[in-house]
Amino acid sequence: MAFIEWTKEYSVGVQEIDEQHKQLVQLTNELYTAIVGNYDDIGLRKTFQGLIDYVKVHFSHEEGMMAKVNYPGLEPHQAKHRELVTRIVNYFKEYQAKMASGADSKHLSKEVLMFLRDWLFHHILETDMKYRDHFHARGIK
Ligand SMILES: [Fe+2]
Ligand SMILES: [Fe+2]
Repeated sequence: MAFIEWTKEYSVGVQEIDEQHKQLVQLTNELYTAIVGNYDDIGLRKTFQGLIDYVKVHFSHEEGMMAKVNYPGLEPHQAKHRELVTRIVNYFKEYQAKMASGADSKHLSKEVLMFLRDWLFHHILETDMKYRDHFHARGIK
């Protein structure tokens, strides 16, 4: 069973963005699989890094779309994105340090997954959803 699932209630009404959110859900599930499946360090690091890279791709894409339509809430939205990138990069650093020292990283990886799940869904419902009408009013769906 997947760790998290994208359902229609998470649709922001813009197809391109929905597809990217689904991809984020998928990558979070892959990280979950890597952790519970006891992937080796290299495999886990790669999965984690891939997720971070895609988070950045999605954020810059979403911000670009918001800028194009002069979305008034762009700045605070961007700030939330930056905050997440900082948090997740810090987690990744902490994770790598633990791995390098041979310390138990299981607890940390669970914490990362819970954090990601909560952040992702909360952000989609509370923050991303706000631009829906703005895009729709400009014919972007
Ligand atoms: Fe966002
Ligand atoms: Fe988003």
